[in-house]
Amino acid sequence: MKLMRILLLFLVAVLIAACGRADAFPVTPTSVLARPTETPIPEPNADLEATAVAQEASLGQANYEVMVAEVGFACSTCHAVEGDTVLVGPSLAGIAERASERVDGEAAYDYIYNSIVNPNDYVVDGFVEGLMPQTYADVFSEEEIDQIIHYLLSL
Ligand code: HEC
Repeated sequence: MKLMRILLLFLVAVLIAACGRADAFPVTPTSVLARPTETPIPEPNADLEATAVAQEASLGQANYEVMVAEVGFACSTCHAVEGDTVLVGPSLAGIAERASERVDGEAAYDYIYNSIVNPNDYVVDGFVEGLMPQTYADVFSEEEIDQIIHYLLSL
């Protein structure tokens, strides 16, 4: 009889241990199999690249909004980034699209680069030549200009 009781206790102990283990590992084979069809696995590099571009753009926004002592303005003093608002220069909302159509054969990136470094190369209709500061190539590094362009391309 004593042996039976020990056996019974042992059986209960095994059952409790088994239940405990099921709780600790709730991942069932079904949920593991179902995952790939529910969540598409992103291209490993696409994600990194998107993050890098977003980082450039946010650094660019900071440069865009900073008051540049040598010039006396921030880009944002003269250019709104939403709607059609004209501050001193045109709003840059949607510039990513417009930029590629401004000058024949000039891609959006190059047009924006030139607009910053040589603003008089192309003067936007309805605006006066020479209003935009002409010295940004001396004020910002190439890297900072690149960041600003990434920001403007994200608008
Ligand atoms: C003192 C005012 C002023 C400041 C500061 C200024 N801009 Fe301008 N910007 C203008 C004016 C006015 C125009 C339109 C005339 C022209 O094309 O030069 C213009 C044109 C542009 C254009 C072309 C827009 C289009 O629709 O084609 C871009 C891009 C631009 N600016 C970017 C910038 C950036 C980036 C900065 C800061 C680094 C900046 N601007 C600082 C006045 C300013």
